[in-house]
Amino acid sequence: MPLPPAWDGSGIGAARALRETDVREGQAERDAAPLWWQSGVIYQVYPRSFQDSDGDGIGDLEGIRRRLDHLVDLGVDALWISPIYPSPMADFGYDVADYTGIHPLFGTMEDFDRLVADAHRLGLRVILDLVPNHTSDEHPWFREARSSRTSPKRDWYIWRDPAPDGGPPNNWLSEFGGSAWAFDPATGRYYYHAFLDRQPDLNWRNPQVAEAIHAVMRFWLDRGVDGFRVDVIWHLMKDAAFRDNPPDEDWREGMNPYRRLKPVHTTDLEEVHGVIAGLRQVMDAYDDRVLIGEIYLPVERLAAYYGANLDGAHLPFNFALLEAEWNARALADLIARYEGSLPEGGWPNWVLGNHDRPRVATRLGPDQARVAAMLLLTLRGTPTLYYGDEIGMTNVSIPPERVQDPWEKNVPGLGLGRDGVRTPMQWDGSPHAGFSDVEPWLPVDEAFSEVNVAQQRAEPHSMLELHRELLRLRRAHAALSIGAYVPVAASGDLLLYGREHAGECFLVALNVGDDPAIASIGAEFLGHVAVSTLGDRTDDRVAGEVALRPNEGIVVLLDKHDSVSHAR
Ligand code: NOJ
Ligand code: MG
Repeated sequence: MPLPPAWDGSGIGAARALRETDVREGQAERDAAPLWWQSGVIYQVYPRSFQDSDGDGIGDLEGIRRRLDHLVDLGVDALWISPIYPSPMADFGYDVADYTGIHPLFGTMEDFDRLVADAHRLGLRVILDLVPNHTSDEHPWFREARSSRTSPKRDWYIWRDPAPDGGPPNNWLSEFGGSAWAFDPATGRYYYHAFLDRQPDLNWRNPQVAEAIHAVMRFWLDRGVDGFRVDVIWHLMKDAAFRDNPPDEDWREGMNPYRRLKPVHTTDLEEVHGVIAGLRQVMDAYDDRVLIGEIYLPVERLAAYYGANLDGAHLPFNFALLEAEWNARALADLIARYEGSLPEGGWPNWVLGNHDRPRVATRLGPDQARVAAMLLLTLRGTPTLYYGDEIGMTNVSIPPERVQDPWEKNVPGLGLGRDGVRTPMQWDGSPHAGFSDVEPWLPVDEAFSEVNVAQQRAEPHSMLELHRELLRLRRAHAALSIGAYVPVAASGDLLLYGREHAGECFLVALNVGDDPAIASIGAEFLGHVAVSTLGDRTDDRVAGEVALRPNEGIVVLLDKHDSVSHAR
């Protein structure tokens, strides 16, 4: 069946303009050696679920250390570990009771040091999760703060008098359901908590809070940590006047109740950028570290988080793909919007999954999950891979009696629960998938005997092998990591773009639909297929056009001197 040619020429001008801008503004920068967090790939480990080493059914640091070979074999550059600090685990570690300790469940400080040393020896960087927006209610700071109205730590948290009727001081909502204000009977005031009432928010208007968190950062940076992923960085400042948030007219019954209001006075305040600049200054006193910010905002809003003078986060997490409408035109538009909104010198990044959002293989299905992996690993910008996505792990349905997530418990039945994306890593076909000797804290996916690392390592076209191939190619060719992104016009289900660097050019052609499609790129283009998501056509010659099978993505290495930006 003949398909409309994808190359309609309209993108050529844009591509050329983009290239010229690059040459003008970006050449010197691109010629400088890229930093590890620009050319590298980050892998997120959810520590409770990666590998248990001591038979308690919960993953730990020694478990991660023993599995570092997997990360090397996969070909990533850094691991980000979700919180490992002492915590009552009301929010599984995002409620920190001691910022400079290790939770005994995860091991000891010696285990931590050993993990970092081994990771570094293997060429892997280690990124920790920093949770500066709130502490646990069991943190000594909060205990002291709530002990009396005159406690020296009182102002480290956010306290308000009850409204005249005795209710909460304003309408602010917790992301985890209900009011964001909890009454403290002992001192007769409310404290603010953006998440659980067991996670009181710190008051970042108090300079002592900033000093204390900066000291925490130095503690870990001095221990050799390579960077931080900063939890809910866009939440750090709240309105000084405590104004009510306005209603969101688009909210309907059955939606996440937190969305009833637009959080304009509780998140994304202009003032937050001063706080972030303070965090960045701490990082800049050290060599070569990375500051990543967790931010759920439209891509256009991310630009501000780089800082007015690039003195903010190195990588404001770009979560757009977690919710993107999965069609080629919408994706092309999204990428263009993101690329177009980046500040000069701001380095992009992309994320396909994390411990808070549905698994990509569930959201898109197994076929498009492969296409998505190719997209993630060939777009311009640092990719972050979520553990288990490299073998196509899916959301696991959790029987009611095994629900752990406090969000699911607080706001049941809306599908907000996150347990299903935090299940144990599937290493092999042995009992408990090689994760633990005992029943794990969350159930292992029943599919583990087919979907596991050992099995896929032996299978030529497995999801794991696709990831390994893409990562190998990325490592071998700077065009795929630091190269320019060149949009190429296409229609229908085809997403086309080029990646170019130092005379080398790749064309990426993704068929986001389940019909065959032909990508025509102009008769003079010659190259060969370097990777296909379907595996079996590597080294196929490409001349001017390429026929894609349903749900197929390919990366084509163009013959020397070809550049998609000169296409006509
Ligand atoms: C974002 C984290 O990713 C999530 O897991 C946590 O529950 C909230 N922040 C609160 O810390
Ligand atoms: Mg354990």
